[in-house]
Amino acid sequence: MPNELAIEAAGLRKRYGRKLALDGLSLEVRRGEAFGLLGPNGAGKSTCLKLLLGLARPTAGTARLLGRPAGEVESRRRVGFLPEHFHFHDWLSGAELLRLHGRLFGMDEARLRQRVPALLERVGLESQGKKPLREYSKGMQQRVGLAQAILHEPELVFLDEPTSGLDPLGRMLVRDVIREQRARGAAVFLNSHLLGEVEVSCDRVAFVRAGRILATRDLRAQAAGAMRVRVRARGVPAEFWRRYRGAARDGQARDIELAEEGEVPKLARALVEAGAEVFEITPLAASLEEEFLRVIGPGAGEGGD
Ligand SMILES: Nc1ncnc2c1ncn2[C@@H]1O[C@H](COP(=O)(O)OP(=O)(O)OP(=O)(O)O)[C@@H](O)[C@H]1O
Ligand SMILES: [Mg+2]
Repeated sequence: MPNELAIEAAGLRKRYGRKLALDGLSLEVRRGEAFGLLGPNGAGKSTCLKLLLGLARPTAGTARLLGRPAGEVESRRRVGFLPEHFHFHDWLSGAELLRLHGRLFGMDEARLRQRVPALLERVGLESQGKKPLREYSKGMQQRVGLAQAILHEPELVFLDEPTSGLDPLGRMLVRDVIREQRARGAAVFLNSHLLGEVEVSCDRVAFVRAGRILATRDLRAQAAGAMRVRVRARGVPAEFWRRYRGAARDGQARDIELAEEGEVPKLARALVEAGAEVFEITPLAASLEEEFLRVIGPGAGEGGD
């Protein structure tokens, strides 16, 4: 039976000279799960990823990927990686770069012939595939990097700040690609300091600061439980709102609490039956930003010295 865990890290420490970049970090990521590491600049996110991939050696602690020790060739083969700072051979074209990486991953010619053009198209570079990378813009390089990370359909995909340098369409592309990876059963490990990006893409997040995980949060459990919604409606009888906990906002809007998502259609029906005209009922997620500031603390720069 295959190991259910895509990533197992226990007590990872990493010291660079006097700097403690990771201070005993432990985490588990299940197969098919999208996991986000959130934290301020210098928190240790990229260091964690490098240790998991075996690109740097831990000072202490252990890590396993897909049931094998991290860094082993056999597990690396089943893993995709978009580094934070990458320097591809810039005389190669986008298509040549993908072919090179595909061959390094052991893909055969027939599969490459099919996958390379399909992926260039997937990341919106179908008309740029023959151009050398040195002529690519930052966002185009980021896109080809993303294609490279998913080329061989890895079981686990590491993305370190995948939307850096991308326009809004590019950010949407990253979100869709993450969703596609999960849909085919791959696990995704995302490093980011963009809260919104993590919020839409991840099942679970960990807040990291100064090389330690301060808290983890299950975003799906959150979605299944109690929720707040913003209601904008005209002509609601005053006594109607007595049934709900909540507070009036500006104009015709009011934020109220519901026990679960199933209450939303009931609320809509009740409003209409009460003679109101409904313009909007929008779920209000308890924002990850609020939680980030609460857990990490405002003005948190790097720590651990
Ligand atoms: N090769 C290195 N040599 C020395 N110090 C390093 C090295 N790599 C990282 N560090 C230090 O380790 C700490 C964590 O860095 P890391 O790159 O993991 O942070 P990060 O969370 O990825 O930050 P960012 O959001 O800016 O990408 C920082 O203090 C950094 O200066
Ligand atoms: Mg980083």
